[in-house]
Amino acid sequence: MGKDLYNLGEMPPLGVVPKSMHAFAVRQDRFGEPKTAWQREVIPVPSIGPKDVLVYVMATGINYNNVWAALGYPVDVIADRQKKGEPETFHAGGSDASGIVWAIGSEVKNVKVGDEVVVHSGWWEPDDPWVLSGKDPMLAPSTRIWGYQTNYGSYCQFARAQSHQCQPKPKHLTWEQAGCYMLCASTAYRQLMGWSPNTIQKGDPVLVWGAAGGLGAMALQITAALGGKAVAVISDDAKRQFCLDHGAVGVINRKNFNHWGKMPDTSSAEWKTWAAGARAFGKAIWDALGERRNPRIVFEHPGESTLPTSCFVCDTGGMVVICAGTTGYNVTLDLRYHWMMQKRLQGSHLANDEQAAAVNKLIMEKKVDPCLSGTWSFDEIGHAHQLMKDNVHPYGNMACLVNATEKGQGRS
Ligand SMILES: NC(=O)c1ccc[n+]([C@@H]2O[C@H](COP(=O)([O-])OP(=O)(O)OC[C@H]3O[C@@H](n4cnc5c(N)ncnc54)[C@H](OP(=O)(O)O)[C@@H]3O)[C@@H](O)[C@H]2O)c1
Repeated sequence: MGKDLYNLGEMPPLGVVPKSMHAFAVRQDRFGEPKTAWQREVIPVPSIGPKDVLVYVMATGINYNNVWAALGYPVDVIADRQKKGEPETFHAGGSDASGIVWAIGSEVKNVKVGDEVVVHSGWWEPDDPWVLSGKDPMLAPSTRIWGYQTNYGSYCQFARAQSHQCQPKPKHLTWEQAGCYMLCASTAYRQLMGWSPNTIQKGDPVLVWGAAGGLGAMALQITAALGGKAVAVISDDAKRQFCLDHGAVGVINRKNFNHWGKMPDTSSAEWKTWAAGARAFGKAIWDALGERRNPRIVFEHPGESTLPTSCFVCDTGGMVVICAGTTGYNVTLDLRYHWMMQKRLQGSHLANDEQAAAVNKLIMEKKVDPCLSGTWSFDEIGHAHQLMKDNVHPYGNMACLVNATEKGQGRS
C-alpha cells in the first residue's frame, strides 16, 4: 500500500498509484499571461481505460499550445471539453513527456509497467470508425492534441495517455532531453515527409521559418538527415551559428526586409513595393543556397505575416506546408502565381504513430538532436511558457523537470 500523495521525486513502489498528485493547471478565472495562469495544484490521479497507460513523468517539454491554453484563446480548452461531457474545471496540460510506464489498461500489449518511454501527442478515440478503417488517424473526427485538448498531460506527476502514444525513450538522452522534442519533431516530420509527392528529395531546397525555434530546429535537422538543403530564417544574427550547426546550408535574417504582413491589394501602388520585397527575399534564398533554385518545400508556421512571401517564393509544383498561424490567421496570397505555377498550400497538424516512430528513430540514431536549450524546475512551468510567449526563450526546445530531482539523470 502506498501513500495518498507523494512529493515530486519521491518515487512510489513501481506500479503503486496514489490517489492525488501534484500538477500544473490553468483555470478559467485565471486565463491570461502564462506566468500567472499556470499554477501548481493537487488534483486526483485519473483512472485509466483499457487502452490507456499512466506514465510517471520525469520531465516535460514546453510547447506553444499551452501558451494558447493559458490565454484561453483562440480556444477555451476547458469549456470545449465540458461541452463533450468532461467534468473537470481545470486544464492540467503538457504535450511532451519522458517517463516510466506506471500502470497499463487491460488491453495494452505494446508496453509494460517499468518501460521507459517518451509520449507523442496524437490522441484519438480507439473505436473511431475512421481509425478502425486503417486511415490516417490524424484525420479522424475524434483526434485531439494530447495535453492541450485532453486533460492530465505531462505537467502532472502521473500523465494519462493512450498506449499507442508511447515510443521507446532514446537511451542516450537525459530525462529532460527526452521530454522536450517529440511534439515539435513529429510535427516537423509530418510536414516534411507526410504529404507525398511533396516530400524531401535529395538536394531539394527547403525554406524553414523560425529556424532556431522548437519546430524550426527539428525541421533543419530532419531536412539535412534526409538529404535536403535547408535555408534558415531568423530574426537575430546571434541565432545564425546555431542554424548552421544544425543542418542549415544558409541563413537569412528577416529583419533585413520590411514587406511583412498582409499582401496589399494587387492593383495598388503598395503591392509593387510588397512584390519588390518578396523578390528581394527570393534572391536572398538563392544567395543562401548558393544556386538559383526556389524552395521545393516552404516550412511555415508564422502565418499571416509571412505566408504571402512563402507562397510567392515557393517553386513551381512545390508546397507551402503550414501548421500554425502564430502571427495571425487572416492570410493573403497572390493567386496568380499559385495557379499558374501549380503550387500546393497544405495544412498539417501533429503526427500519427508511424511518423512519431520515424522521427524517434532519427533521434535514436543521433541524426537529430532534441536541441534542449534550457531546463527549468517544476515550479517554473508558467515562467517557461511566458518566455515562449514573449519570444525571448533560448533556441530549440525547452523542458521542465517533473519527478526527476535534478538535471542530467536518465541516461543509460
Ligand atoms: N499544429 C501543430 O501540430 C503544431 C505543432 C507544434 C507547434 N505548432 C505551432 O507552431 C508555432 C511555432 O512553434 P515553436 O514551438 O516552433 O515555437 P518557437 O520555439 O517559439 O519558435 C517560433 C519561431 O517563430 C519565429 N517568429 C516569431 N515571430 C515571427 C514573425 N513575425 N515572422 C516570422 N517568424 C517569426 C521566431 O523566430 P525568429 O524571431 O528568429 O524569426 C521563433 O523562433 C506555434 O504557434 C505553435 O503553437 C503547431
